[in-house]
Amino acid sequence: LAKVEVEMSAIPEGKNLIVKWRGKPVFIRHRTADEIEEANKVDIKTLRDPQADDDRVQRPEWLVMLGVCTHLGCVPLGQAGDYGGWFCPCHGSHYDISGRIRRGPAPLNLEVPAYTFNDDEEKLVI
Ligand code: FES
Repeated sequence: LAKVEVEMSAIPEGKNLIVKWRGKPVFIRHRTADEIEEANKVDIKTLRDPQADDDRVQRPEWLVMLGVCTHLGCVPLGQAGDYGGWFCPCHGSHYDISGRIRRGPAPLNLEVPAYTFNDDEEKLVI
């Protein structure tokens, strides 16, 4: 199956990029130190779909996930919502800066696809 390669230097810190992979949007965010800290200070026990930020990323500064709301499949909006992450306008699901569901009808966190970094660490390969 076709792989998508993304030049990481094309995504400045604090910015999102959306690429298409197998017909679905994939969100890539180059997170700031503040965002990583925020993602890690959440009490996992309070989450609907409890998952540590560490378990959702390979490298803390790179968040990679499918841009498909786990409620009914709309594409959430970036840099939106009450938790500094994504907001799904279809029925109002709020995701945090780790892509974890925090409020609204979605049952699960945004899904993390399989991906790797290439050998010279310049590209993300999905
Ligand atoms: Fe996202 Fe319903 S599809 S909240």
